[in-house]
Amino acid sequence: MRQLTCLAVALTIWAGAAASEGDVKAGKKVFRKCQSCHSLKPDDNRAGPTLYGVFGATSGSVEGFRYSGPMQQAGIVWDAATLTEFLTKPRALVPGTTMAFAGLRKPEQIDDLLAYLQSELADQ
Ligand code: HEC
Repeated sequence: MRQLTCLAVALTIWAGAAASEGDVKAGKKVFRKCQSCHSLKPDDNRAGPTLYGVFGATSGSVEGFRYSGPMQQAGIVWDAATLTEFLTKPRALVPGTTMAFAGLRKPEQIDDLLAYLQSELADQ
């Protein structure tokens, strides 16, 4: 049930609704775990590809970034649901990914993070 609730919340965020349970401030803190490898600015690839424009993008499509074969071939469209699955356990969704990150264990951390990403990337 909790899982379903999270999905519903995540989809609400995706739809751009103002009311969401994800806490943007808390999400900013969670993003610290990603920041060393990911930027939110265009054309700013670090150890990982920029996450600018990630909502609605197909996996492995940031220009100029050298993805792993599995990520290039995954063909995932990133939305709240697929990002939630990926961030829970990257290697489960994309076996062989070179993203050296174990995953976020708490569903609410992911809700918060997605709320933060959504608010940061909303003006694209
Ligand atoms: C140690 C560096 C590192 C950390 C920490 C990290 N990532 Fe990544 N991330 C990568 C790399 C490298 C890739 C490309 C993986 C591949 O090609 O298999 C990637 C890929 C991704 C993708 C797919 C992007 C695309 O263009 O298809 C998403 C989404 C993502 N990361 C989100 C996150 C988030 C959110 C966090 C924090 C919770 C995070 N990552 C933490 C290195 C990292």
